[in-house]
Amino acid sequence: RTEGRAKVHFTIVAGNRSFDCEGYDGLSLLDIIKHQDSAGAQELAEVLECACSGIMACSTCQVIVHPDWFERVGEPEEEEQDMLDLAFDPQPTSRLGCQLVLKPELEGLVLTIPSGANNLFDHIPFE
Ligand code: FES
Repeated sequence: RTEGRAKVHFTIVAGNRSFDCEGYDGLSLLDIIKHQDSAGAQELAEVLECACSGIMACSTCQVIVHPDWFERVGEPEEEEQDMLDLAFDPQPTSRLGCQLVLKPELEGLVLTIPSGANNLFDHIPFE
């Protein structure tokens, strides 16, 4: 349910493209891609893979938070950090897009999509 929730606007920079997105308070970047009902969701889906659908097993959803915003976004939990350590060229302000949840104080947030991605999900040996 998104009724009554604040809309949060943010900017995604991917290579030489930059686009404006929006999503409701409480939704992760992955949720926005899944719902596809807000501005920028389509573009976000094109640049952010989310190969494991949010179970923190792939690192393809890595985003780099602009340093000015990192304190408001917050540090990753330990499990998220473990996955980020295996991500493509992780940065001190990297977060997983499936774990980064919008909140009203993130209005105006700027995120960059890395130029590559490691998909660790491909390497999980399923029985
Ligand atoms: Fe796989 Fe985020 S979607 S770790």
